[in-house]
Amino acid sequence: MSLIDLELTPDVEDETNAIFERVERVIPRVEWAIHAPYVAAINRLKKERNAVILAHNYQVPEIYHTVADIVGDSLALAMKAAETDADVIVLAGVHFMAETAKLVNPEKTVLVPDLRAGCSLAESITAADVRLLRERYPGVPVVTYVNTSAEVKAESDVCVTSGNAVQIVEALGVPRVIFLPDEYLAKYVASQTKSEIIAWKGHCEVHERFTAADIRRYREDEDNLVVIAHPECPPDVLAEADYVGSTQGMADYVDGIAHRRHPRVLLITECSMADNVSAKYPDVEFVRPCNLCPHMKRNTLAKILRSLETMEYEVTVDPAVAVRARAAVERMLAYSR
Ligand code: 13P
Ligand code: SF4
Repeated sequence: MSLIDLELTPDVEDETNAIFERVERVIPRVEWAIHAPYVAAINRLKKERNAVILAHNYQVPEIYHTVADIVGDSLALAMKAAETDADVIVLAGVHFMAETAKLVNPEKTVLVPDLRAGCSLAESITAADVRLLRERYPGVPVVTYVNTSAEVKAESDVCVTSGNAVQIVEALGVPRVIFLPDEYLAKYVASQTKSEIIAWKGHCEVHERFTAADIRRYREDEDNLVVIAHPECPPDVLAEADYVGSTQGMADYVDGIAHRRHPRVLLITECSMADNVSAKYPDVEFVRPCNLCPHMKRNTLAKILRSLETMEYEVTVDPAVAVRARAAVERMLAYSR
């Protein structure tokens, strides 16, 4: 329970009316009456604590459009985390994103609203697994998706996100790389580069559930449907897509087609993505099959408020691990600047 009075008072209404205008297409007014006191309290407390809220594109609209200071894909969140001069970072996303923010900001306080917000990819591999792979393939560089623990990053040569994986593997210019842990992202990268890819069998529990047959069914029903898919989807799903990219790449692609006549878009990704993007493009019709990420959905306005009140839950990384993990993240950021 919050210690702050959470009534919808006239003052709260005044403070939040302009914010509601940003979300009125995706949040009904009756629902806003519940969110508004939290939004006002969080925004006040952020100033007191000199805190920023970084929110991933899969956060619900009442977090994404009202209390977040920085929104984006994993790459944007890592880059912006490295630039902030706030004392406190609240990461509305999942645990590996908060660890990455901590790695690039060792002296700042990094908080997560719910410690249980994990990731099936991060849980699919350990540091010991990476050491075994290095023994098996001596001299082959280890490229690690940012969706991993700090311990796994520490065993890696360079990190990547879905937004820069192809670019970084190309830039390495080597005949073979070990690419961990997402099998489908590894296959997608292999299809876009000349390097041979040694993959792991990790999967995103959200994107692995889409099927090519689903997409074909939607295409039968809808003429001129534009299909945009995340590269964590299986290869046969990606083969059906018009565009494949990170969540930021997906949003940018929608921006590029929004001027077309009656654009209809199928986003093959997590559910909040279409909610968040659609708030900006009222003329684009979003066809909405989607899968929820239970980890991303652990974040709520009430938990963010509690996090700022109590300064919990702080994310820390063992300094001996952090120094090596940071090097892999910094190498990625250097490629992306
Ligand atoms: P990006 O936002 O970096 O594309 O990642 C998607 C994802 O699943 C993050 O957990
Ligand atoms: Fe992990 Fe997939 Fe959820 Fe992203 S959407 S946090 S990759 S389980």
